[in-house]
This record gives sequence, structure tokens and C-alpha cells, in this order.
Amino acid sequence: MNRARVRGIDHVGLTVRSLEEAIHDLRNALGAGLCYIEGPIQDPEPGWMARKLGSRGSCILRVAAMNALGTNLELFEYAGADRRSWTATAGEAGTFFLLLRTPRPERIVSRLFTENAVVRPVEEPVFGYEIALPSGIQLAIQRSTSGDEDAGRLIGAVCLNRYDYQGAVSELQGTFGLHQAGEVTAFGASGVLLTGAHGAQLAVLHGHSPSPRPANSDVGGHHVAFHADDVDASIDALRLAGGYAARGDAETITEGPIAGDRWVYLDSPFGLQLELINMPDGMLPYEAEAETRRRPIAAGVLA
Ligand SMILES: [Fe+2]
Repeated sequence: MNRARVRGIDHVGLTVRSLEEAIHDLRNALGAGLCYIEGPIQDPEPGWMARKLGSRGSCILRVAAMNALGTNLELFEYAGADRRSWTATAGEAGTFFLLLRTPRPERIVSRLFTENAVVRPVEEPVFGYEIALPSGIQLAIQRSTSGDEDAGRLIGAVCLNRYDYQGAVSELQGTFGLHQAGEVTAFGASGVLLTGAHGAQLAVLHGHSPSPRPANSDVGGHHVAFHADDVDASIDALRLAGGYAARGDAETITEGPIAGDRWVYLDSPFGLQLELINMPDGMLPYEAEAETRRRPIAAGVLA
């Protein structure tokens, strides 16, 4: 077990302009399936959402979970947030995008029925398309090569400033047990692809123009969630590792589609917002009627 006592990446979370538009886009483009929609969630007490989630002030949150090509995505839509205008484009430090390497990138692009998608063909260093969807999702579709083990898997990509990039690559390997599985260049940013024994992969890139990080309630806000068998033990382990600050105590959700989920957000020493989560897949209320289920961190391993 790694120092953080985590199994791997459970999901990546992204704040979008519109949940419905984002669901539509991801269904069309990637064949993603909807697992559940949760909310509206409001502050149970003043300041809860800002403290626990890192939102700007009090707001109303709805969450949709999708399984996109075997990767769990969590989409957030905040209403009434004191949103700052977030105009950064993918590739700049502080941004997040989704990356897919596939033998036929044009097939994905042809499925993008959204009339307002901005699609930019790219020739170098890898042929593909860089796409901005009106929902706020930014997507790099690249042609895979025969050696790409990750082809066909959707990958979350975080762009960090120079200092945070070095820290993230070091910490995600040394503390969270990921290892480097390749290199990535997209949206003008370059970095590494990190993978673990279980769960999703993560691309960590050196963003090309430093800018402030978005809050979780800003469109483009994002987090990376690691599965912990024991969330509280992982909080303690990261406290010992140093530089990590949990946003309050872990909480267990007691009602709704993911009752039983235990979670806490963490601020990391490299700027990226993290989450520790124990989602009891196979025992969650949403599963009875869901069009798609989440991908468990490791089928069979935790049974
Ligand atoms: Fe999350």
C-alpha cells in the first residue's frame, strides 16, 4: 500500500455551465452513460459548501455522475454561486480537460452534434482535434499509435503551473503510488501520463501561462478523487506526509442515490484539489434503476 493508503483514482470532477448540456455532449461524443443525478444540494449550515467543497460562497449544487468509456466523471453545476468570470482556455495553468486517444479521432468529432462546439484540428505533435463544448467541457481527441496502452480510455488532464507541476508529479508518484506511463502533449501543454494499479489514469501537464486556479464553483473547477478503503486512515496518513489539509472531517452521505458514500476534500501542497472517497459500489441506491453504473475501482478486489 502506498503512503496515502489509497487504491487509485476513483473519479475526476469537473464544474460545467449546464449539467444537461454536458450530459448531452458526453453521451453524443463518447457514448457516456448517466449513473445518477444528485441534488439540488444546499448549505446545511452557513458556510458549509465554501468550507467543505471550496465553492465561492453559498450556492445550490447539482451533481451528475457518468461512466465515460470506463472512467467515472462527476459533473457539477453550481447555481447562485458568486462565480468569478473564468476565461482560461485548456492548456493554461489551472485548467482541466479530457483526453481520449483513439484510432479514429474523426469518428468522435462526427458525433458531436452540438452546433456550438468549437473544433480545432491539430497536426503536430499528434494528429487530432481540440474541442471546446458550450457546456464548458474541453476535450482533446488524439490519434492513438499502436503502442498506446491507454487507447480508448478517457483520461482527466490537469494543467498546473511550473512549481506545482514538479510537486504534483513527485507527490502523485511518491505518496499516492501512481507511476509514469507515458508522455502527453495537448492544448499546447506537455507533461506525463500517470497510472495506478487500479482506477483511472491522470495526465499532469505543465500549463503554459500561469493563472489563478478556479474555485470548485467556477466553470472549469475540478478535483481528482482517490479511493480509500478507510477514508479516515488516509486523512491521517496524508497529515503525516505533510502539506495536505482536509476540508473538515470526512462525512458519510445518509440518503439519496449514493447513500453510504464516505468522502472528504483535501487541499494538496501542489494546488490541485483532491478528494478521498469510499463509494460502496454494488450497494448504492442509484444502481437499481440506473442506465449505467459507475466503474468500481477494481472489480472483485474489494468484494
Ligand atoms: Fe468527487
